[in-house]
Amino acid sequence: MTDIQELLLSRIRDVADYPEPGVLFKDITPLLADPAAFTALTDAFAEIAARTGATKVVGLEARGFILGAPVALRAGLGFIPVRKAGKLPGATLSQAYDLEYGSAEIEVHAEDLATGDRVLIVDDVLATGGTAEASIQLIRRAGARVAGVAVLMELGFLDGRPRLEAALDGAPLESL
Ligand code: PRP
Repeated sequence: MTDIQELLLSRIRDVADYPEPGVLFKDITPLLADPAAFTALTDAFAEIAARTGATKVVGLEARGFILGAPVALRAGLGFIPVRKAGKLPGATLSQAYDLEYGSAEIEVHAEDLATGDRVLIVDDVLATGGTAEASIQLIRRAGARVAGVAVLMELGFLDGRPRLEAALDGAPLESL
């Protein structure tokens, strides 16, 4: 493990039985409160943005907004929010996806992405991969390409990686 990985890991708090019994929640608020750790994370994501040739950064609601916005600024790129349905005021593209029970829907402003854009998707956690996979579909439907997906951590036991790698079609999935 690198020094940066040790620093980031030390700032993630495990919260038992949240949001429901039996779930161990990975809380990133201690990392956000530590400027050295938050800067290290931002720099690592910005390096991925540069390496993948990204032209825009997409952040996934809600923690992907907090992490993605400084990455976009650091990399000199625009930031695009992918939001839960009904939150964006302009003309949107929507993508539904299945949850364990029921379904969810995410949206992006159609005018924010264009043919020729290469998009780095940023989020805190990769769990089942459903949210990130739907984001990939959304970005492609907007005519843009996906440069890669960058997450702080992945919950390997939920098998999000193989699902996402199949959807990414050769673009990288980077987990710090
Ligand atoms: C969490 C997390 C990811 C997503 C990962 O967000 O921040 O966006 O779930 O899960 P998946 O890989 O199974 O799709 P959440 O839906 O809790 O939204 P929030 O950040 O607005 O609380």
